[in-house]
Amino acid sequence: MANTILVGAQWGDEGKGKIIDVLTESADIVVRYAGGNNAGHTVWVGKKKYVLHLIPSGILRKTKLCVIGNGVVIDPIGLVNEITGLQKIGIKIGKNFVVSETAHVVFPYHRELDAQREVLKGKNKIGTTKRGIGPAYGDKVARVGLRMADLIDPVRLEEKLSVRIKESNSVLKALGAKPVSFKQVFADYKKAGEFLKPFVTNTVVLLHDAMSQGADMLFEGAQGTFLDIDHGTYPFVTSSNTTAGGACTGSGVPPHRMDRVVGVMKAYTTRVGEGPLPTENQVISDLLHGMGREFGSTTGRARRCGWFDSVATRHATMVNGIDDLAITNLDGLDTVENIKVCIAYRHGKKRYDYMPNDVQVLSECEPIYAEFEGWNTPTDKCKTWKQIPAKARTYLNAISELTGAKLYIASVGPGRDQTIFV
Ligand code: GDP
Ligand code: IMO
Ligand code: MG
Repeated sequence: MANTILVGAQWGDEGKGKIIDVLTESADIVVRYAGGNNAGHTVWVGKKKYVLHLIPSGILRKTKLCVIGNGVVIDPIGLVNEITGLQKIGIKIGKNFVVSETAHVVFPYHRELDAQREVLKGKNKIGTTKRGIGPAYGDKVARVGLRMADLIDPVRLEEKLSVRIKESNSVLKALGAKPVSFKQVFADYKKAGEFLKPFVTNTVVLLHDAMSQGADMLFEGAQGTFLDIDHGTYPFVTSSNTTAGGACTGSGVPPHRMDRVVGVMKAYTTRVGEGPLPTENQVISDLLHGMGREFGSTTGRARRCGWFDSVATRHATMVNGIDDLAITNLDGLDTVENIKVCIAYRHGKKRYDYMPNDVQVLSECEPIYAEFEGWNTPTDKCKTWKQIPAKARTYLNAISELTGAKLYIASVGPGRDQTIFV
């Protein structure tokens, strides 16, 4: 399958975990390159549900190597719990899993700061996952962060942590938040470092060695295009480059070694957290929530839902260079009579065929819709393209064309066998 980057083409939760799991069958290595345990990637294997936060979704296939690249921020306690939790239910995690020694570490003071900043922002809050992601990336960019190589060396950990905690606690106190205990954090993190040490390595060299032996790699994006720190709806974004470029910087694999970009998108739109969502719609929200769908995999929050927004997905195709599309959750629209698709925005007298950069303008945009006839037939048992109702095929073809990329996969349910290669 060559080297493939898989990205979310909307606001996250597009079904990346499911599609990664399916594509992993024909890859050798799966690499996470951005984000942290703010991500929640759901994979169903038979009747069993797994939600991966830091570990690549390829872990459920025994013979594949899973890599956490340098671009990821790691909460080591969360990672230890994720590893042991999976091991307890029989998932093998040993030599098939490695972690970059240059990935940055998330500490409790990052989480405290994340939470307190949200409180101080009041009604302008971002609606973060409160996993400390923003402050951890902030320390990385400010060149004061600790990396996995520091975590697994208790002498370095103690020395660097004591300095960081002094500064962080003074900031926390000034903001009215609870300071953290150096003694406790050091003890907990030293223990986590001992546990994780066997997995920590130079993943850049490892990936290049694997490439020279012809390995096929799959880069598992986290979050989505419009949560990207540069290309998203700033400031209502996460703190990393979630778009395809992040796969290179977040793994050390250069751009010319990437062969293909797959964009994952739902047949409608969802977003969790604050910020503009032009096609947000109460009817479709109520419908999906009523079916027990669209509750966050990480925080359990109800996701905001709306019609498919092709202005947004076109933009995603542009900034990621999407070649192929995996469209998930087609079955979510099975009972909708008339399905709307946003084809442009109106802002006052101006029509936008592209996404305005100004988040204020975007939040004031009214969608211009095209309408499609619903198919009113369950699609979740469809196994082939031909079995998909004609009106649903028309819809899939139309949203692919509007998005400007080739339809590659149609997903009609969360299971592996509910995946149709077009
Ligand atoms: P991710 O963060 O992009 O991996 O997506 P999440 O796992 O957070 O959310 C996607 C949700 O949709 C999960 O509950 C998946 O099991 C589910 N899912 C993925 N594809 C389909 C599909 O085609 N149909 C249905 N019904 N559920 C799907
Ligand atoms: P996956 O990989 C959906 C959102 C949060 C918030 C914003 C910033 O499962 O698609 P952060 O905690 O990162 O500082 O929060 O980004 N967010 C996600 N939304 N899916 C995700 O990941 C997300 N990761 C972060 O809700 O709006
Ligand atoms: Mg998710």
